[in-house]
Amino acid sequence: MGLRPIEDASTDFKGVRDYLAAYSGYDENGEAMLEFSCGISGVTDEFVDKTAKAGLGAMGAEFYKVEHLGPGHWLLHFWKTEPKNPLDDAIEIKASDLSDWDGKTVTYGLTEAGEPAKLSYAQTSGIVVGGVPGAGKSAGATLLTLPLLASPKASVAIFDGKGGMDWHWAEKAASLYNNDCDLDLPTATEQLEQLAQRCVDDLKSHPWSDSDPDFWHAGATALHPFHLVVIDERQTLFDVTGRSKEDKALVERCKRAVATIVRKGRSAGWCVMLLTQKPTADSIPTNIRDNCVVRFALRVTTREAAEAVLGSIPDGDPRPTEIPAPRRGGAVVQGEDGHTVAVRFAYLPVTEAARALESSTLETVVHGLEE
Ligand SMILES: Nc1ncnc2c1ncn2[C@@H]1O[C@H](COP(=O)(O)OP(=O)(O)OP(=O)(O)O)[C@@H](O)[C@H]1O
Ligand SMILES: [Mg+2]
Repeated sequence: MGLRPIEDASTDFKGVRDYLAAYSGYDENGEAMLEFSCGISGVTDEFVDKTAKAGLGAMGAEFYKVEHLGPGHWLLHFWKTEPKNPLDDAIEIKASDLSDWDGKTVTYGLTEAGEPAKLSYAQTSGIVVGGVPGAGKSAGATLLTLPLLASPKASVAIFDGKGGMDWHWAEKAASLYNNDCDLDLPTATEQLEQLAQRCVDDLKSHPWSDSDPDFWHAGATALHPFHLVVIDERQTLFDVTGRSKEDKALVERCKRAVATIVRKGRSAGWCVMLLTQKPTADSIPTNIRDNCVVRFALRVTTREAAEAVLGSIPDGDPRPTEIPAPRRGGAVVQGEDGHTVAVRFAYLPVTEAARALESSTLETVVHGLEE
């Protein structure tokens, strides 16, 4: 680093230290690490990165990464050959690995740092999931919804715009299941409007408490469950191209109903999850996107699509355009600080999810009665 080394009080430096460092040599994975703390003002992220790069030769390394651990604190990684990304291995799980829903959070996979990736539904009224066909949106949404479908503390409505069997596993546990939206637009419109109306009613009458209008202060219970409305392949429901005039009017009503829940649902315990394979500013109206505070971008191929889901991405942060195609279920999520984090959804085949629900339905009924 070209800095003064650590010295001891007994030397000429009189205990003045520029830095502290701990080095671990190459391990069996060909990775060496240098943990480094330094409070000198000129030692910035940029300086450390430049110095690490310049030190590749001396380290006998080909690749490096600088991890910022805190103010003036870094962890430098050096590799002799290109390191394997931990997210490149699929994360297989069994239904029995999932814990009961605690009324707030679900764990759906892993972050690049190897931590559990979690989503909190508390105070969240809108979730957007975008990515190219086959990126793993529906499979990812299985992990996000299964704990809720299995819990008496949540009520989940499902609209499957694709009209296939993708959500068949959840049909019996869902409070509403419609995989015919495309063909029967009037029914889907009515159902969405009814849900939006119930959300508005809940907001007005806050049935969970006489005095506290915020659903999340008391939290989800079997008596007053959290309401999640899942709309998969929303573009088939919301796309107006080629529609008749009557249908266009219905589509507008659907959009308005969704916007109502996204805008008003937060403190009423209502939330919409929108999945789309066509993330564009047209298909995700910005007034809806901007109110969706949780955004998952699975693999996309253009910067426009990435920004349609996430908004602008800070320089140097993971981008959904960089997710390799074979990494199905790989995603980039945006944290509260605006920075993005690379994650991967765990994978639970729908047959497993269906089995998990079958065994939990009876339990749920019993629990629901007991609470
Ligand atoms: N997290 C994952 N880990 C490993 N494989 C996955 C993962 N997610 C999805 N896959 C694989 O990718 C396939 C496609 O996933 P999925 O149906 O969820 O894609 P999608 O994004 O919903 O596509 P579409 O837009 O066509 O609906 C799955 O059938 C599965 O084989
Ligand atoms: Mg899908």
